[in-house]
Amino acid sequence: MGKTGLQLSVLSFGSWVSFHKQIDDSVADELMGIAYDKGVNFFDNAEVYALGESENMMGRVIKKKNWDRTSYTISSKAFFGWRGKENKPNQTGLSRKHLTEACHEALQRLQTEYIDLFFCHRPDKNTPIVETVWTMHNLIQQGKILYWGTSEWSGVEIMEAHRAAQQYGLIGPAMEQPQYNLLERNKLENEYLSIFKTVGMGTTIWSPLASGLLSGKYNNGIPEDSRFGLTGFDWLKDRLMKEELLEKVKGLAALAAELEVSLPSLSIAWCIKNPNVTTAILGATRKEQLLENLTALDTVAKLDAATLQKIEDIVQTKPVLPEY
Ligand SMILES: NC(=O)c1ccc[n+]([C@@H]2O[C@H](COP(=O)([O-])OP(=O)(O)OC[C@H]3O[C@@H](n4cnc5c(N)ncnc54)[C@H](OP(=O)(O)O)[C@@H]3O)[C@@H](O)[C@H]2O)c1
Repeated sequence: MGKTGLQLSVLSFGSWVSFHKQIDDSVADELMGIAYDKGVNFFDNAEVYALGESENMMGRVIKKKNWDRTSYTISSKAFFGWRGKENKPNQTGLSRKHLTEACHEALQRLQTEYIDLFFCHRPDKNTPIVETVWTMHNLIQQGKILYWGTSEWSGVEIMEAHRAAQQYGLIGPAMEQPQYNLLERNKLENEYLSIFKTVGMGTTIWSPLASGLLSGKYNNGIPEDSRFGLTGFDWLKDRLMKEELLEKVKGLAALAAELEVSLPSLSIAWCIKNPNVTTAILGATRKEQLLENLTALDTVAKLDAATLQKIEDIVQTKPVLPEY
């Protein structure tokens, strides 16, 4: 992962939306079991997912699995808090108080002695970055977390964390968790480029299928049992169910058929083809989806230069970098 010695599987498994809201313990157990048996060694979570219930569920499943703790990694993320509308001041953000308390709570919910990867889920404009860096360094020193990173921070904020870490001889952020998929590319392919080259950074990218849109499942409307059909997810549906985007997905579906692979497999393979991606976090609500998505590892071999160009011609989302 980036410049660290940690080895993450190229595909990993996350619990946003699905755990607790869509699937119960038995399905979570089945999906995590399949992932683990196929070589996935990173399971992603956050305090805010299902307001703590996602971590509770993952903790129960892992306890039951009784896997060797050294064979997998697990994450949590702090920032949003887990009390939703009931959050009081200090129950969100990246202050020493909230990060430390969020870490303790996540350890309890996940039923683990340490968290392998602990993320600052968003930047916090109200907390000096140096306070956050000191806190994460101390949590590492205390053995409660092993690596810390950011999620959806700007390049400038990440570099400020490195500057502070260097000034005080502290452990800086090792990884970032940005959205990355065929429709959302700027951070990975533009903003972070110099960071990859200078201080180095691993990335655990999220929504490789743009919440399912890039699977093609929404090409003919919204299936009832899908994420866009859930109550409370209108904001996501409104952001992504756009004619212009669906046209691109249909173009990709035709290309996938030509390549004799499924569209989800192609979309995910395209993400992990980028050498700056450490791991793509998969989401799935059923076994068939997960098994299909794991075939992305084989589909990467089909992404030659000509195919990659065809993809560019269809999506037209490549960030334009200045030419001097
Ligand atoms: N750091 C952050 O801010 C952040 C934000 C979001 C996510 N994440 C992490 O990234 C993980 C993955 O994100 P994501 O769940 O949005 O990933 P995604 O791959 O973009 O979407 C996954 C969803 O798409 C549908 N799907 C997946 N495979 C499919 C297939 N083969 N055919 C048809 N439908 C399929 C399923 O939803 P339905 O069956 O319900 O339609 C599934 O839950 C999360 O679990 C979380 O750990 C992090």
